[in-house]
Amino acid sequence: MAKKLEEYVVSIPDFPEPGIIFRDVTSILQDPEGLHLAIDKILCMLDGVDFDVVVGPESRGFIFGVPVAYAKNKAFVPIRKKGKLPRETVSASYDLEYGSATIEMHKDAIKPGQKVVIVDDLIATGGTTEAMVGMIEQLGGEVVKICFVMELAGLKGREKLKDYEVESAIVYEGK
Ligand code: PRP
Ligand code: MG
Repeated sequence: MAKKLEEYVVSIPDFPEPGIIFRDVTSILQDPEGLHLAIDKILCMLDGVDFDVVVGPESRGFIFGVPVAYAKNKAFVPIRKKGKLPRETVSASYDLEYGSATIEMHKDAIKPGQKVVIVDDLIATGGTTEAMVGMIEQLGGEVVKICFVMELAGLKGREKLKDYEVESAIVYEGK
């Protein structure tokens, strides 16, 4: 019988620190069937969704965002870590366990009124996604759907995204 997407994910206990179970997305990618399944699942989430642009964050968001944009014949807009984009940007900061991170996107990447789908590999605390939504809305975009391959439901990232349609291919109840 064909393997399910979740069966391609290798879980590594105590990485990067004791008590954390790391859900490794590279184990999906290194199997052609796993890669197909993951992209196809996101494409299914977008059936009937009217949108203009896929936005994905560096770096794992690029892996899944670009093939989805390509398959749907839409543009792809990268969100990058601070200092990488050459033209005028908007930026947003969010909290990490220790300190904070800043991400940026080109100011002209989203036009007012455009409908945006966000794609990333994982939602954990939701901080990255909340920061992305803030930038997209600052530029006048409308976030119509947010798609993840994996969700760590125990970290309650969805609570930061209550006003949005969020879907994950695999939901882990823990952290
Ligand atoms: C990871 C993951 C998500 C984000 C989820 O990215 O790829 O983008 O964290 O965490 P959150 O919901 O708590 O914000 P990371 O910042 O580690 O960078 P990477 O994609 O470059 O590996
Ligand atoms: Mg990431």
